[in-house]
Amino acid sequence: MRMYDIIKKKRDGGKLTEEEIRWFGKGYVSGQIPDYQAAALCMAIFYKGMDVEETTALTLAIRDSGDILRLDVGGIRVDKHSTGGVGDKTSLAVAPIAAACGIKVAKISGRGLGHTGGTVDKLEAIEGYRTDLSTEEFADTVRKVGVSIIGQSGDFAPLDKKLYALRDVTACVDSMPLIASSIMGKKLAANDDCIVLDVKTGSGAFMHSLEDAKELAQVMAGVGRLAGKKVTAVVTDMDRPLGRAVGNSLEVAEAVDMLKGGSPEDFRELCYVLSSHMLHLAGKGSLEECRALAEEAVSSGRALKTLAEMVKAQGGDPAWIYDTDLFPKAKHSLKVLSPKDGFISRVDTEKYGEVSLILGAGRSTMEDKIDMTAGFILQKKTGDAVRKGDAIAELYTTEKPEMLEKAAEMMLSATEFASSAPKARPLVFDILM
Ligand code: URA
Repeated sequence: MRMYDIIKKKRDGGKLTEEEIRWFGKGYVSGQIPDYQAAALCMAIFYKGMDVEETTALTLAIRDSGDILRLDVGGIRVDKHSTGGVGDKTSLAVAPIAAACGIKVAKISGRGLGHTGGTVDKLEAIEGYRTDLSTEEFADTVRKVGVSIIGQSGDFAPLDKKLYALRDVTACVDSMPLIASSIMGKKLAANDDCIVLDVKTGSGAFMHSLEDAKELAQVMAGVGRLAGKKVTAVVTDMDRPLGRAVGNSLEVAEAVDMLKGGSPEDFRELCYVLSSHMLHLAGKGSLEECRALAEEAVSSGRALKTLAEMVKAQGGDPAWIYDTDLFPKAKHSLKVLSPKDGFISRVDTEKYGEVSLILGAGRSTMEDKIDMTAGFILQKKTGDAVRKGDAIAELYTTEKPEMLEKAAEMMLSATEFASSAPKARPLVFDILM
């Protein structure tokens, strides 16, 4: 087989066989196939797509490219995975909530991808927090604390690890078969019993249209169920950033705020929706009962304590969770001011994500270092009334002060104003159970 022929076949709209997909996966992981050929194939898939059989073959190639986790953690393992968004820090809250309700969450998370943030980068904003635990340390933390969140190690779905980093810097992220196989390949390798998928739709999601998001949800849930997993897919709004904080340490602080009973309404509600579905899949009761369990885990302080215990077990200082003022602050900031009176009628959320990237919160090459203090806090969101001169947001950076003006311009050009309030969008569009 030749990689050239596989690229050409896909470029011309052909259907790849399972054998070709597995051969590519093996060759790319072993280093025999170079990045430039893998990138060409990803771009061909981006343009020509893949059908369900090809997507399933790539999912299984990802799953089988490394170890399949067989963790003995003494309980039902449930995970939640989002397709990615701006300000989406739900994992940091729902994982400890679910664990505080007695289920086991052994979560392998990703880094930032495209304009979206990643849970692993966010957790690394906590000084000393190790995202590289060995399998034994990982299982041990889950057994003791109920939850552990780590990054992908070399042995776990290495095909996705390489493809994910490659897609991130070659504009090949927002492809339905590549997203579906990336997420489900990892979920099947992680081998959880139950999976809640948070499939985002809107201007900050990889799937902008509701139709595409629903199709992605169906494909992923279908692949998961075929592999014997219990899966719920929730299609949720990403037409505006989730919550108010975007950027790594800023988002950890907002997630902690949620666990203390605060935080913006949309973020808090989504955390309860997702954690209720996690508990429900794990057999903890009806959805209403599970919601009550999740709310009690927060109001009693148990979920916050669980997060602090996880941080401690993984080398971080739990004091940072109880007092988020301990996170280093950005050295530079700038307020973005409204140019007119009226309402914010719409924002281009992907552009908002790019604002945080250019301030230093994400990567534009595989080697880039992240500024954990960078990002922004929104003072006004879609639907809010504004007066000329009101601050819409405050931008933060330590490493890239020279980008503040440009970032402010970008944010304003991604913000639409109108004389009346826009029609409200639902937070949850669909639930596939
Ligand atoms: N999250 C993933 O793990 N992979 C993708 O491709 C997109 C979001």
